[in-house]
Amino acid sequence: MDTTVNLAGVELKNPVMTASGTFGSGEEYSEFVDLNRLGAVVTKGVANVPWTGNPTPRIAETYGGMMNAIGLQNPGIDVFCERDVPFLKKYDTKIIVNVCGRSVEDYCAVVERLANEPVDMLEINISCPNVKAGGIAFGQNPKAVESITKAVKKYARQPVIMKLSPNVTDITETAKAAEAGGADVLSLINTLTGMKIDINRQSFALANKTGGLSGPAVKPIAVRMVYQVANAVNLPIIGMGGIATSDDAIEFILAGASAVSVGTANFYNPKATMEIADGIEKYMKQYQIENIQDIVGKVK
Ligand SMILES: Cc1cc2nc3c(=O)[nH]c(=O)nc-3n(C[C@H](O)[C@H](O)[C@H](O)COP(=O)(O)O)c2cc1C
Repeated sequence: MDTTVNLAGVELKNPVMTASGTFGSGEEYSEFVDLNRLGAVVTKGVANVPWTGNPTPRIAETYGGMMNAIGLQNPGIDVFCERDVPFLKKYDTKIIVNVCGRSVEDYCAVVERLANEPVDMLEINISCPNVKAGGIAFGQNPKAVESITKAVKKYARQPVIMKLSPNVTDITETAKAAEAGGADVLSLINTLTGMKIDINRQSFALANKTGGLSGPAVKPIAVRMVYQVANAVNLPIIGMGGIATSDDAIEFILAGASAVSVGTANFYNPKATMEIADGIEKYMKQYQIENIQDIVGKVK
């Protein structure tokens, strides 16, 4: 049975990876999860300088999910390279670094800094507000997506994954823009912008007023978007959004994802990633699937 996945020349032992921001930098979960069992660890987003994030409260529960407005708190690329990369290097898994920024220059600075680090791939989070464009997220404008992809690709030594925002009318437009800009792989979806009001305090549940919705409640939207993008571009796709079990993961693979990321589920089941990897193998045995790639996008 072959569970390996090739993403732009990088071979993963299986299609299961973590979703950025829900697994720390790996170390936080290493007591619960044997990181050697994962196809890849995707780190929390990192910027060129430290970010303090948003005021609290920054998370709230919702039906079948959660909302967050962490504001991409991170220690900055220097601390990340000194502390987190050497930790992850001890494991037999691929390292994917998620990158955030407030301007194209910010992103490029991180990507350039990572050029000589032993990381396998870069995932560019374009759901961040573009300060120079009045705060609209890069990922909501196809032109901005194409130009940031081109800019990042100039500095990148590793394959580049562009992580698409679902907060758009037609996700195939931004997917095609990332492809035109030279993206190697696409990942989707990031969180959906939502709002929750605390009726007892008669105020917003999150200090930021709005936050990103994730977890099982978003899965049907994510599967639909993966299917649409898989049929619109010629790039490998990493699918995510509400994956909590191997059945969920297989749904994304059948819709067109070559690999999957597990996010919110890690918070209530820290072993979710390993269980999903095991469950995929069980499914392959049950349906006599020799190679996981044989079922990528099988549902037309
Ligand atoms: C608390 C939290 C923090 C997140 N931080 C990041 C981040 O730093 N960069 C990023 O690209 N996505 C971030 N995400 C989005 C997830 O990686 C993922 O795209 C999204 O949550 C959907 O997957 P899920 O439903 O399995 O959680 C974050 C999500 C959560 C819940």
